[in-house]
Amino acid sequence: MYASLSSFDGPVFAEMHRIRDHALQRNVADEVHVALLHQSGWFVEWMEGPPAGVHAVMGRVARDARHRGLQLLHSSGGPRRLTEPWSMAIVQTRERPTDFARRVMTLREEHRKGLVPDPATVWRRLSTPLTHPGVAEQAVSDRFQRVMVCSAQGADSFDMVRWLGQRHDAEVVHRRFAGSRADGLDVATDYVDLDSGTVVRRVIAMARNGLHIGLTQAFLPDYSHVILLLSGDGTRDGNLMQRLVAACVRLAHRPVVVGLGPLPCDHATLQQTARRGRLVYLDCDLAGRIDAQAWWDAAEPLLDLSLAPSFDSMPLPGAD
Ligand SMILES: Cc1cc2nc3c(=O)[nH]c(=O)nc-3n(C[C@H](O)[C@H](O)[C@H](O)COP(=O)(O)O)c2cc1C
Repeated sequence: MYASLSSFDGPVFAEMHRIRDHALQRNVADEVHVALLHQSGWFVEWMEGPPAGVHAVMGRVARDARHRGLQLLHSSGGPRRLTEPWSMAIVQTRERPTDFARRVMTLREEHRKGLVPDPATVWRRLSTPLTHPGVAEQAVSDRFQRVMVCSAQGADSFDMVRWLGQRHDAEVVHRRFAGSRADGLDVATDYVDLDSGTVVRRVIAMARNGLHIGLTQAFLPDYSHVILLLSGDGTRDGNLMQRLVAACVRLAHRPVVVGLGPLPCDHATLQQTARRGRLVYLDCDLAGRIDAQAWWDAAEPLLDLSLAPSFDSMPLPGAD
């Protein structure tokens, strides 16, 4: 993983797409999977693959005039986390490039001293704005909890995160992601950090079509829960659960799924799909008017980490 100062003119997203189109063709031959971030005028590129492949890509990238001052931040051997050949993210924050640079330099020094954190941790320490309470806490995992929210229809998950930001007077950070698919679809994801005193909780709204993106899947093992805001429509809700099961299929650690539904909701079928995907499913029905506050009030008590069941402690499919 390296960071570099971007030095091109013009819109970021268009340039990232140009890089992707080229890299997708070249990296496959080198068996290299990549996640590319653009934030505060910096690029961060995370590559995974055989050493020869990674060196070949680095050789190409180092000569590119669209960035300069490459700083190596991480290098290690281990299983792949990036499940897709390509993912990319643009994070919009108010942070200045000089502040981002400080984090880059700290990580570079740690790398030089031989400290080797998990690559996902390096990525997070770079892409989390300094002003967030989560920055200090995210290294201490039992005080920092990540929760994803995905809605079966509409944008209720994003409304809930926006509402949480307003209620707690906390900044909502906007990111855009894209994967390998050439159809150009890119997805939004917003998050907010909430400090409840006992735990700092990052609540991340994820678009339904963001679940297939490699970068999403690379970070999914670090989520304690995925909250599904269900619609009551069996087909839509079933599709969302299937997307989640597919996203988790290669993960060693899987989040607990919280299914929140308006009455009536077919939790039994969703539970079966979850179990086939070795996911723990907790359900909760909401009656009456459903808005951001109602969703959150129903979800929050189920997020208590000390109560989170693991799949191994649940009855096996068919046992009941
Ligand atoms: C930030 C950044 C990341 C890049 N990532 C890749 C990559 O992963 N793979 C790749 O082939 N090219 C990547 N490129 C493009 C290369 O730098 C270079 O332009 C391209 O590989 C051209 O080399 P070629 O003419 O030998 O194909 C990246 C460029 C930038 C600015």
